[in-house]
Amino acid sequence: MADLTTSWLGLELSSPFVVSASPLTRDPAAIALAVEAGAGAVVMYSLFEEQLVHEQLAAHRFLDARLDADAEARSFLPDVDVFALDATPYVQQLERLRARVDVPIVASLNGTTPGGWTTYARKLEAAGASALELNLYEVATSPLESGATVEDRQLAVVAAVVAEVDIPVTVKLSPFYASVPAFVRRLEHAGARGVTVFNRFYQPDVDLEHLDVDRRLVASTSAELPLRLHALAVLAPTTTISLGCTGGVHTGLDAAKAILCGAHVVAVASALLMHGPRHVGVLKDELAAWLVSKGYRSSAEARAVMDLRSAPDPHAWERLNYARMLDGWRERPIG
Ligand SMILES: Cc1cc2nc3c(=O)[nH]c(=O)nc-3n(C[C@H](O)[C@H](O)[C@H](O)COP(=O)(O)O)c2cc1C
Repeated sequence: MADLTTSWLGLELSSPFVVSASPLTRDPAAIALAVEAGAGAVVMYSLFEEQLVHEQLAAHRFLDARLDADAEARSFLPDVDVFALDATPYVQQLERLRARVDVPIVASLNGTTPGGWTTYARKLEAAGASALELNLYEVATSPLESGATVEDRQLAVVAAVVAEVDIPVTVKLSPFYASVPAFVRRLEHAGARGVTVFNRFYQPDVDLEHLDVDRRLVASTSAELPLRLHALAVLAPTTTISLGCTGGVHTGLDAAKAILCGAHVVAVASALLMHGPRHVGVLKDELAAWLVSKGYRSSAEARAVMDLRSAPDPHAWERLNYARMLDGWRERPIG
């Protein structure tokens, strides 16, 4: 059996398979099964900036009854059906998971604007989180805010969270930056100890019957993996912080690809929601068998073997591959 241990964010993990943030982490029994099957760490579902801001506003309302009478002001607040507007259940769930399993539990904060909500990072550390994942999910909607301004704002959030805690902070990114490696370099300078690529960009469809937005969440497929592989191969030679891959890992072979491109861990959600938490064991066995078949004694040995380190000019290499791929269409027709 190949050695699957990995080091991520300074934490020593028994395997590179991480249970990614999802409703599965609301169920301690399911998490225990995933860990038993070989998960090396668990990232909890997110605590959202919007929830925490509301909790703070609620405290203000207690002091200022007038605001409560103002229906318009209240309408700006998140829908109570969507969010638990109190961080206490989250902290309690973190403590429950900690008591149940013996792998690092990573708490997840999800937000994009600096503000008092980032101080909650300290509560999560106090409750026993081994690390924090900060999810910077957002979709730019204002023509008045440039990409550079968005990045500066996000970096301010990262720096604020990092300043609150001693545990490592990793950042979950979306793919939409003009230069992912340059932004990751800035994240590193802001104190991030890792990045995970990439958030899935939830693309609501249009319901033509009801002229409404169709928000159904569709599980990923392995087809989403190459975008991540490409980013990992670009990032691995340019940064020393930990690299996580999320999005499209459905088999042990998908995990092998991510590791070859530079991932320290792969964070899996859809496959576990579809096949159950024990599926981690299947992924682990497939990865181990592939490593052995290629003569690797450990996943660490295979890590980053296929990153862009050996390309003398990665930018030119990317352009050439792009041109070759378009040209190759004649030999391997589409469809
Ligand atoms: C139902 C569901 C809920 C999720 N909730 C969160 C969340 O609270 N915070 C977060 O950072 N990611 C969340 N994610 C994203 C996953 O953690 C993961 O990054 C993404 O689904 C890509 O991995 P996958 O291809 O294995 O599904 C969620 C995903 C699903 C499917």
